[in-house]
Amino acid sequence: MEIIIHPTVKEASEEAARLIAKHISNKPDAVIGLATGSTPLPLYRALIEMKLDWSHVTTFNLDEYIGLPREHPQTYHSFMWENLFRHTNIKAENVNIPDGNAAAIPAHCAEYEKRILVAGGIDIQVLGIGSDGHIGFNEPTSSLASRTRIKTLTKQTIEDNARFFGSTEEVPKHVITMGIGTIMDARQNILLAFGQNKAKAIAGAVEGPITAVNPASALQMHAVTKVFLDDAAAGELERANYFRWVHDNKPDWQKI
Ligand code: F6R
Repeated sequence: MEIIIHPTVKEASEEAARLIAKHISNKPDAVIGLATGSTPLPLYRALIEMKLDWSHVTTFNLDEYIGLPREHPQTYHSFMWENLFRHTNIKAENVNIPDGNAAAIPAHCAEYEKRILVAGGIDIQVLGIGSDGHIGFNEPTSSLASRTRIKTLTKQTIEDNARFFGSTEEVPKHVITMGIGTIMDARQNILLAFGQNKAKAIAGAVEGPITAVNPASALQMHAVTKVFLDDAAAGELERANYFRWVHDNKPDWQKI
């Protein structure tokens, strides 16, 4: 894991955006995995400002709530069109988001996995992290080898996400999520975490043991994962100053 700590969310998000932009300009038909939630919003704003050519890009979203009508403002379908896609020239047929209203969920999940393979695999997967260490919606104790499937959210995640819905009762309990095995197959992962309430999960993921209790810790076994943090999310890392030192002393050719 490479840990990149910036004083502000804006600086961290802009560096992550430069990495994705560079990849898309080198490979116009890139396959990009995307996340939702509050964390990637400044990244998406930075990407929109860069006016990239998305016309050949294919995207796969990590997850979706089960049972909300597709046009509900809190579906990840609505989120992605509102916050990224409608501001780009991406083709609707190249956008892949799990269907939370699929009639046969296991078959849909298997088909989603197949679609990723047919697209050539994910080049860069954007990830956020839950305060309990989840990535995608792989809650603690998820199999580290899991594939796309249905999951039940923890009470903690339902409480965390109630801010988008108005009350905990309105948050769906079930979701479709890429598995940790699916995420581990991406050629590169970019994990973003901002704010003090992510500091404990980040410390566990980066410096703790690899354990299904902190699903993001599986990324320690991924060859190319960059973790972009603000100072607050880095607040419980014992080696924060070492990570800053590494970033400040990169050879020019390695800088993003
Ligand atoms: C969303 C996702 C989740 C979120 C996580 C953090 O697609 O996969 O893992 O990244 O719940 O959410 P925020 O960014 O709202 O704190």
